Amino acid sequence: MSQSANVIYLKDYKVPAYLLEQTTLKFELYPTETLVSSSLSFVRNPECTEHNPALTLLGHEDLELVALSLNGKALAESAWQREGETMIVAGVPESFTLDVVTRILPQENTALEGLYLSDGMYCTQCEAEGFRRITFYPDRPDVMSVFTTTVEADQAQFPVLLSNGNPVASGQTENGRHWVTWEDPFPKPAYLFALVAGDLTHIEDHFTTASGRDVLLRIYAEAKDLDKLEYAMESLKRAMRWDEEVYGREYDLDIYMIVAVDFFNMGAMENKGLNVFNTSCVLAHPSTTTDAAFQRVEGVVAHEYFHNWSGNRVTCRDWFQLSLKEGFTVFRDAEFSADTNSRTVKRVEDVALLRTAQFAEDAGPMSHPIRPESFIEISNFYTLTVYEKGAEVVRMIRTLLGEAMFRKGSDLYFERHDGQAVTTDDFVKAMEDASGRDLSQFKRWYSQAGTPELTFSDHFDAASGRYTLSVAQRCPATPGQPEKLPYHMPLAVGLIGADGQEVTLDNGATTQILELTDSEQSFVFEGLAEKPVPSLLRGFSAPVKFSYPYTQAQLMFLMAHDTDGFARWDASQQLVVGIMHQLMAAREQGDALQLPEDLVTAFRAVLTDTQLDPAMVAKVLTLPSEAYLAELASCIDVDAIHEVRCFLRSALAEALEPEWLATYNAHQTVGSYSPDAESIAHRSLKNLALSYLMALETDASLTLAMQQYESSDNMTDMQAAFSLVVHSGFSEAAAQLLGDFYQRWQNESLVVNQWFAIQATDPKPGALARVKALLQHPAFDRRNPNKLRALIGNFCAQNKVNFHAADGSGYNFLAEQILLLNQQNPQVASRLLTPLTGWKKYPENRQILMKQALEQIMACKDLSKDVYEVVSKSLA
Ligand code: TRP
Ligand code: ZN
Repeated sequence: MSQSANVIYLKDYKVPAYLLEQTTLKFELYPTETLVSSSLSFVRNPECTEHNPALTLLGHEDLELVALSLNGKALAESAWQREGETMIVAGVPESFTLDVVTRILPQENTALEGLYLSDGMYCTQCEAEGFRRITFYPDRPDVMSVFTTTVEADQAQFPVLLSNGNPVASGQTENGRHWVTWEDPFPKPAYLFALVAGDLTHIEDHFTTASGRDVLLRIYAEAKDLDKLEYAMESLKRAMRWDEEVYGREYDLDIYMIVAVDFFNMGAMENKGLNVFNTSCVLAHPSTTTDAAFQRVEGVVAHEYFHNWSGNRVTCRDWFQLSLKEGFTVFRDAEFSADTNSRTVKRVEDVALLRTAQFAEDAGPMSHPIRPESFIEISNFYTLTVYEKGAEVVRMIRTLLGEAMFRKGSDLYFERHDGQAVTTDDFVKAMEDASGRDLSQFKRWYSQAGTPELTFSDHFDAASGRYTLSVAQRCPATPGQPEKLPYHMPLAVGLIGADGQEVTLDNGATTQILELTDSEQSFVFEGLAEKPVPSLLRGFSAPVKFSYPYTQAQLMFLMAHDTDGFARWDASQQLVVGIMHQLMAAREQGDALQLPEDLVTAFRAVLTDTQLDPAMVAKVLTLPSEAYLAELASCIDVDAIHEVRCFLRSALAEALEPEWLATYNAHQTVGSYSPDAESIAHRSLKNLALSYLMALETDASLTLAMQQYESSDNMTDMQAAFSLVVHSGFSEAAAQLLGDFYQRWQNESLVVNQWFAIQATDPKPGALARVKALLQHPAFDRRNPNKLRALIGNFCAQNKVNFHAADGSGYNFLAEQILLLNQQNPQVASRLLTPLTGWKKYPENRQILMKQALEQIMACKDLSKDVYEVVSKSLA
């Protein structure tokens, strides 16, 4: 396969030659095949300057064409041509109707793109290019059309038949079949089309919009999950209200539906009026769902709802603009979660994700700007860069413009482009026009890849009271981009005096937004009595790496006095990372590892300060992850990172044992389970304390964990105890709980996934053998992406010491699994590959083995585009 020839470039964008006024679809679902009949009314696009252009449709290579006619007349084979994914019909009139019939086999669709079966239920996934697996169609986001869809199936087996918009007609036919017709009045691209047919139950509710319209809300699932839908419904109503209050946007149809499916490649999909969700992002119940999963449900429900404006009403012109909808929508859902729960906690979690996974992506072979310039397979660009860094770029615009101007800009964007397919340039233009600000330099954030690095230094002149803060920016080279130009970014800065008081700055506040535009720049503050300690990038005001030569004492000072929650947490991270680096150096020298007394003092101060928010205490006292330390390293020594982290955890456990125990006891939640921010905070601190106590490996700590496992009334506490015991050296107790947990939860698919995940992430030796054995477990299903991620994904991405075993066994395992999945589910195969792509950052012995694994995959003759793109770029 010469996939290298099929690179798609942003610069090659051309407007479509024909526009679609109406799409009428009929699906006849049968056990052995599905017939799709479509009737498409095309008109010439006045914006296309070509003379008599041909009509270009897209259809997957394997798509079977049954019939094709133009204005009611069957088209001769010579009237059209198929090559790869394109079908070209030449000599078409100015306006015409094309009728297409295709035959598809959803029951054999394992890629989970297009129409497929999830646990006996028909559903679709059309983003980005799945619609072309259903029928021949102008499957590109700038072709928008209204849809009328009729779904026909066996009534007993598929009593519920859904599609986008409103149901307008239904009826029965012979042989026990029935049909429903749906009409979606809002023009949309094919990627937002959805169909669901199954034996589903639902809960329902109503929402009254600000203007007084009544919206019917329904969440559908299999009958066994009916009791797990309430939280998603409450989250949906909160999100709808929030978008009205914060953005002035109302929902537009009379019905909003969410369907939970177990087989899904991603988290969820914002299809107009008919969202399809991975069960993991919608089902929630205290006895089966952890706090983290509750919060994910709330966030994803909100995200998909927010897409109704940022994505559906205003959509993307082409897939290079993906961050237009995803970056903006992630920003919107993050703000919703911050307003609904704890703002600082949400920010800390998002920054931690960005700094570990997104920074690693920026530094690896797949590095790309938030608006990529080329791709082989667009599915590979649903990345942390497009989503999370994209959201940071929108956040920076808001910081630069201020809240009021940002709202004015978003209003202008929605008004100007409602019903259109647009570009990130259009988004920025609306922000510029509304605010009068020039964002031309800022736009480099859309075109340059890589994580900028800021180096701060300062100078205080005691005689004049003048404090000068200097900063230099650089951005490392990334594939195809050797040189970078300086970025325009906001630096939210505060200054703290020796007494711990914040200095009032020129703007009359204690935080000021400095605008960095040059590669080197200085900012001057006058009238200071003494040299302050700077608090830099408050709220993480730009997605960059930054350094200032803080002493340990200054970091501890910031931990105690900074009024910015993010900055306080960040100071603690810098302190602990510095100490871990010292310990790694000591280990390298063969010296014994020693716990610095200063760290004990700092931890004790935080642990015993009852005024602090317990959620922040838990964040501050959680040691930086192995993944974050790996990202910071220029050459990753997996074993050193793991050992030093384990040492520090045990040493801190021992040094502060009475404090951990007191904390564990003080933060027990009473009353029935609730996933509100405050209760979550107490549970997170309590379970962190338990994890330190378990690091002591004493019988007393085991007793505590076993008691918590037995007596907890919620999955958060149960799973925390379970996972600590399984990962501990108490092998008998671990074996007992593994059996017990499975016994209790074997009928809850999502809990069984956690049971797989916890075993896959057990750092003890022998994990690979255990994972291989679990692949044979009856509950494992290799067609289900959630199961693949739970076992294979977690082992390779989270269990670093075992995946990176010196004999290369982890790498070989992943290569084998990728080859097994390559044809079956290319999207998931390509994502699971990520841990191999960063091979250049490992020591030479690992590099050789990782590269061999990649080459083994590359040698396969029928690689999917998805896998080919990632492997070839990794080896380049
Ligand atoms: N647009 C979806 C979101 O909300 C992403 C998505 C869902 C997706 N399913 C997909 C992307 C399948 C690619 C393939 O973010
Ligand atoms: Zn999205």
